Amino acid sequence: MDGTGLRSAPEHVAIIMDGNGRWAQARGKPRLFGHHAGAKRVREIVEACPDLGVKYLTIFAFSTENWKRTQSEVSGLMKLFKRYLMSETKRLVSSGVRVRFIGDRIRLDETLVALMDELELLTCDNDLVHLTVALNYGGRDEVARATKRLSREVAAGRIDPESVDAETLARFLDTYVLPDPDLVIRTSGEARISNFLLWQSAYAEYEFIDTLWPDFTREEFASVISGYAVRERRFGAVPG
Ligand code: FPP
Repeated sequence: MDGTGLRSAPEHVAIIMDGNGRWAQARGKPRLFGHHAGAKRVREIVEACPDLGVKYLTIFAFSTENWKRTQSEVSGLMKLFKRYLMSETKRLVSSGVRVRFIGDRIRLDETLVALMDELELLTCDNDLVHLTVALNYGGRDEVARATKRLSREVAAGRIDPESVDAETLARFLDTYVLPDPDLVIRTSGEARISNFLLWQSAYAEYEFIDTLWPDFTREEFASVISGYAVRERRFGAVPG
């Protein structure tokens, strides 16, 4: 809250970018056409963040469940990610965006992983906006991977099992350097969280909006952010 009684902008916004397929179908086009249109929106939303006071933006690009889509959609999406990373690198580096990826890299192809590593390295000194891209990400999978790593530390005698609490586990999550999201937005009218940032969003607010992702403009983003700023969040406490 600031002196005006209004809460400030959310520091960390997470977005489930949904509706690309329906957007394309409504135009009689293949689903990948919608994903390409969706990819174009990403730049606009990232670039809107500094003016809106959003320091961290996390976007759901590909879930652990998305492998169940047709082979042609999956391979089209992977190609799109590679092309996107190649074509956006220069702009992201020069515009002060620090990029990170979360999710399990094990199933992703080598060329894509190399591009991800390179982009993380090239942007590691940037600090204007922290963009995190969830790729082959699932919240349960992340907690399971974190538990595996934590268990190894316990088995090696480096962590006392009695000392393990929520904070200990959080240190093993993919998001360990990020603050928890304040606001999670999902486009396309579906009111589900679909395994996105399950642990981290325990106290987040959710905004489910009808617009399909390729139609989600910077203006609509700004209006969702200002809606957040007038609501109060209590973290389970009684207001003082
Ligand atoms: C959901 O729409 C969208 C995805 C599974 C992919 C998200 C990918 C992008 C927005 C493309 C680019 C991202 C980056 C980081 C370059 P859907 O296919 O589930 O739509 P539907 O619910 O209408 O079928």
